[in-house]
Amino acid sequence: MHLSRLILSEFRNYQQADLTLGSGLFLFCGENAQGKTNLLEAVSMLATGNSFHASNDREMVGWQAPDHIARVEGYVQRREDTLHIEIALFDPTPALATTTSTPFSLPETSGTVLPRKRIKVNGIPRRVMELIGQMNVVLFAPADLHLVDGSPDERRRFLDRALCQIHPRYCQSLVKYRKVVTQRSALLKRIRDNLEEPRMLDYLDEQLTTQASLLIYERRQMIATLDREARVLQATMSGGREQLAVIYRPSFTVDERWTSFEAIQHYREQLNSVRKREILQGVCLLGPHRDDLEFVVNGVNLLTYGSRGQQRTAALATKLSELAYMRASTGDEPILLLDDVFSELDRVRRDYLLQQVLRHEQVLLTTTELHALPAAITAQARTYQVNEGHVQVSTY
Ligand SMILES: Nc1ncnc2c1ncn2[C@@H]1O[C@H](COP(=O)(O)OP(=O)(O)OP(=O)(O)O)[C@@H](O)[C@H]1O
Ligand SMILES: [Mg+2]
Repeated sequence: MHLSRLILSEFRNYQQADLTLGSGLFLFCGENAQGKTNLLEAVSMLATGNSFHASNDREMVGWQAPDHIARVEGYVQRREDTLHIEIALFDPTPALATTTSTPFSLPETSGTVLPRKRIKVNGIPRRVMELIGQMNVVLFAPADLHLVDGSPDERRRFLDRALCQIHPRYCQSLVKYRKVVTQRSALLKRIRDNLEEPRMLDYLDEQLTTQASLLIYERRQMIATLDREARVLQATMSGGREQLAVIYRPSFTVDERWTSFEAIQHYREQLNSVRKREILQGVCLLGPHRDDLEFVVNGVNLLTYGSRGQQRTAALATKLSELAYMRASTGDEPILLLDDVFSELDRVRRDYLLQQVLRHEQVLLTTTELHALPAAITAQARTYQVNEGHVQVSTY
């Protein structure tokens, strides 16, 4: 699939922008703080309904927006049809401000949620959950190179972002699951303080294990694909020296032979066995919010023993495998967004990423250093200059 047109109005530092895109390679270059990442953020919004880095929708509304509304609009050419997606973001007055209810930045407490954004797909109003899955993007930013040596939280976010885009029901489960974890943690503390009976946990345990079973199932499927694909990529990038394995480390003990019904029973038992400890600590100790991924090369754990280069290769291999996973799950090529990553890679990894990029349907990439990019990219790309929220065809 590819984005054929992107229209922005009062989005971040873009007052008005109207870009005609298409399949192929699009290069956005400019100095720091000109709006390159903002542009990719807008594209990613069209796919997920949420920002990949804003904690709050109102952050994206242009400071000077006369009506306090930002708009992002896109036309997406898919294998079978065309989508017209419109998103309007409102900057409510501070008194009305509320947290967003996205799966990536859930409110700590469930308060009243006021309209913060409106979404339309082909002219029909939709909820975020209905938008998700229609358009797929894979974003690759320098921070992704820390997939292996970063925190478990980042690795879970990586899984969730991809899975939420492909399976709306994963996204729904994740939202419910996080709510249950918050409520359950609060309840555990109340039980610890003798304000509530332990049997009050039964209902939330059931909720937690039901949602957990779906999340674990989908994560397992995705990781199996990542493992298969990334193994090949790592071997190629290392000249055949490195055998990578991407391993799921769920916090519940998981057995893939269990049916989903059996899995839920087993998770309940595991919860029961740690109940005392959970009450004592006042936190949920088991479940997908404690899952992790492990990267092993030639039998050695990369987090502990990997060299920086090996960790980066594994991160790159895993990110590129995400593309393959999306393609296999949706039957269409996701749009690849590369935010200033080439400058972070050495020659071997750079060449490898380059090969992938050149054969991809649509790639939007940003850079501050046009000359530092591989010549194969600058020769093929349509190049734009980004300057203070204005995008112009580059004369380079
Ligand atoms: N809501 C907003 N309204 C207006 N301007 C904003 C808003 N949010 C962010 N900005 C401005 O957007 C500018 C550029 O952001 P962006 O992150 O896209 O830069 P960039 O070109 O990617 O820079 P770098 O090369 O450093 O990554 C920042 O200077 C920031 O002040
Ligand atoms: Mg940037």
